[in-house]
Amino acid sequence: MKTNVTQVMVDEHQLILRMIALVEHNTALLEKGRFRNWQFYLDAVDFIRNYADRFHHAKEEDVLFTALIKNGMPEKQSPIEAMHMEHDQGRAHVRALEDAAQKALDAETGQTAIIIEHARGYAALLRGHIAKEDDILYPLAERVLPEEVRDDMLAGYQVAEERTPGLEDKYRKMVEGHEEQVNK
Ligand SMILES: [Fe+2]
Ligand SMILES: [Fe+2]
Repeated sequence: MKTNVTQVMVDEHQLILRMIALVEHNTALLEKGRFRNWQFYLDAVDFIRNYADRFHHAKEEDVLFTALIKNGMPEKQSPIEAMHMEHDQGRAHVRALEDAAQKALDAETGQTAIIIEHARGYAALLRGHIAKEDDILYPLAERVLPEEVRDDMLAGYQVAEERTPGLEDKYRKMVEGHEEQVNK
């Protein structure tokens, strides 16, 4: 049995998917004119940027994808390139979402349609992205990566975790807090 190097990433997807479900839920209410909590979107941006992107995507880009490339997967015109592009597309949605949510919070009008567009766009992009990783890329990584690189990969993940102590806890609590608002 080889050392597993993707389960930790699958587990992180679960928390990201919970935030995406919140974004979808609250954005559906926003479309009906029944949601005006702009701070929620700034929290979502904070979560996506720091948990999904700087933490999770950085582990993928710096450790997992790097290991796949070193072990024979092409860097260009490959699943790796596609995943990199989707990370970048996500970042563009997040910048636009942040800008519009901040303006809405400052009582600038006309931001709702922009928030809806980028919230929906990000949610759809990331759902598809996570499905591709969980169902295709990660299982492929488990098949092709040799055992001798796996301890170093886990150490690489550990470095990312130690760089940001308490991060997982902070963002789990943020998600739980917004879930409680939904269920109230
Ligand atoms: Fe990814
Ligand atoms: Fe991922």
